Amino acid sequence: MLLDKEIWSGFLALKEKAFNAQGLISQEFTWSKPHFLEVKKEGLGLEVKLFADRKSNVFEETFLGPNLMFKVHKGINLILKKACSIYLPIILGPKITQGKPFFFSHFAQSLDGYISTKSGHSKWIGNDINLIHAHRLRALADAIIIGGTTLKNDLPKLNVRMVEGSNPKRIVISGKSHSFNSLMEASDDEILLLHKAYDKPAIINNQIRKISIETENGVINPNDVSKILSQENHKCIMIEGGAETIGHFLKASKIDYCQIHISPMYFGAGRSPYTSIKDIVKVSEAKSFSFVNHFRMGDGIMMTGYES
Ligand SMILES: NC(=O)c1ccc[n+]([C@@H]2O[C@H](COP(=O)([O-])OP(=O)(O)OC[C@H]3O[C@@H](n4cnc5c(N)ncnc54)[C@H](OP(=O)(O)O)[C@@H]3O)[C@@H](O)[C@H]2O)c1
Repeated sequence: MLLDKEIWSGFLALKEKAFNAQGLISQEFTWSKPHFLEVKKEGLGLEVKLFADRKSNVFEETFLGPNLMFKVHKGINLILKKACSIYLPIILGPKITQGKPFFFSHFAQSLDGYISTKSGHSKWIGNDINLIHAHRLRALADAIIIGGTTLKNDLPKLNVRMVEGSNPKRIVISGKSHSFNSLMEASDDEILLLHKAYDKPAIINNQIRKISIETENGVINPNDVSKILSQENHKCIMIEGGAETIGHFLKASKIDYCQIHISPMYFGAGRSPYTSIKDIVKVSEAKSFSFVNHFRMGDGIMMTGYES
């Protein structure tokens, strides 16, 4: 999605306001009653106000999430409306979870639900528009999580090089001694390595801080990750992948909000975040998303939704 630089800067400024106790949108924000967000283009930037009541002068109303309505004024164009629908849920996420870290995931999948081929290849399932969008999401997050296999296979940088904004704190969950070179070459910032207590990753480097976490059946409980990241003062955390890492968070119902880029391709086999959930017998037992929206992203579709 093409966005004017000024409008993107407007979203970054909103993020600062939303995180800041003095910000306009930080007044008592709760799930328990409906709130209405009014977004106006103001000069070169954006003005967002939060109301407890529906006001007049509304052109159209959209649900952004549970109890969060978004009013569009006649002056707002469709691109800005789409950008608000995609980026405001993340900017406001930490307000919605009220003190607890807000976890969201964004990934690109094939039509048959795989985020990489069987061999672990995934560049690129999403298109160029999705790649720029992913960098914007990194800029709105204050921390980003990947699993060890993604570090090994993709050699990611996890920075925001395609857009304006600050890099999130980079967090890897792994007990293996993978090379961290791609991350270290991209930036001098600290990297957090979360590892199972019984693993002793032989990585000694001043840039990498290790935190050991107890496991249950060999798995780190995402709720323990949440507690640690809360102590580290992280509020808005993006889970980038891969399949196993997202799967553990999905299974623990620990992803508050998801953005899934669906690409018009299929592999027949591969790595899927959904197979972590194995006990569904009837369709009525399915895990599902609520407050779903969908957006055209070039030749792909992005579906967004809250965990229900
Ligand atoms: N399409 C996309 O948007 C996208 C995004 C990101 C990645 N990917 C692809 O995904 C592929 C990798 O997926 P994957 O499922 O094989 O691996 P992964 O999720 O990247 O990494 C799995 C590893 O992470 C560690 N881990 C993660 N969560 C854990 C937990 N809760 N408890 C304990 N250990 C945990 C374990 O490491 P140890 O075994 O080392 O302890 C585990 O083996 C890559 O090839 C990449 O290309 C695709």
